[in-house]
Amino acid sequence: MDTHNVPYERAFIFSAAIRIFHWLRALSILVLVITGFYIAWPFLVAPSNSDVLVQGWVRFAHLIFGFALCAITLVRAYLFFFGKSDIERRSFKDVTSVNSWIVQLKSYLWMGHLDKKGVYGPLQFVTYLAISVIAALICITGLVLYANVYHLGLGGMLGGFAAWVTGIMGGLAPVRIWHHYFTWVFIIFVVIHVYMAVWTGIRFKHNSVDSIVSGYDYHPKKH
Ligand code: HEM
Repeated sequence: MDTHNVPYERAFIFSAAIRIFHWLRALSILVLVITGFYIAWPFLVAPSNSDVLVQGWVRFAHLIFGFALCAITLVRAYLFFFGKSDIERRSFKDVTSVNSWIVQLKSYLWMGHLDKKGVYGPLQFVTYLAISVIAALICITGLVLYANVYHLGLGGMLGGFAAWVTGIMGGLAPVRIWHHYFTWVFIIFVVIHVYMAVWTGIRFKHNSVDSIVSGYDYHPKKH
């Protein structure tokens, strides 16, 4: 096909691994928020009822997706540092450049274009770094809550570490409260993340949402 006169060009930006883990993480977070809120407020079964299995199944789902999130968080960190493409790592150059911050913030206010060295702008990179740290913290507090209930197998192996974390966090109640607060960080992040993904696609004429499905970004040709 003659692509010469087509005003758009395409670039491959997200590997299959990055896309698969993005959606696995999205699914895990969705299930964990819903089941987590149910664990915190088990409204389906009356207090005097003997049917405790609803809570058991909800906790079971929370743990399955919780361990999935632990694994995804580790794999995702590995992919960032050691993945074949350096398109994510390259974005760090913009984080250390004051000029790149000014360019990004101005472009968000409809002044000028966003010119990035990698795939993320500096504000976006720092936001993703922060949510990755929160993911690690919600996994750690989740594992501590887990180890407090299950004393055999993995729970037993984590016992010493869990006791240490519980100690520095001031007891099991604060561990649970922080696990709950981190949930809200995810909810706020997801709302802004989805909004920004759609908005930047329109603002900068990139197909940002499609690219995390297909891997390809389409954008106007640079002349
Ligand atoms: C995005 C990730 C996650 C979210 C949004 C989330 C959310 C929640 C919420 C809201 C609660 C209830 C806290 C309360 O009682 O107020 C909870 C409890 C719990 N979570 Fe998570 N969680 C996540 C990840 C994990 C992970 C990675 C694990 C560990 C594998 C985990 C294990 C637990 C355990 C063991 C409990 C306590 C259950 C109980 O008290 O019976 N969570 N979670």
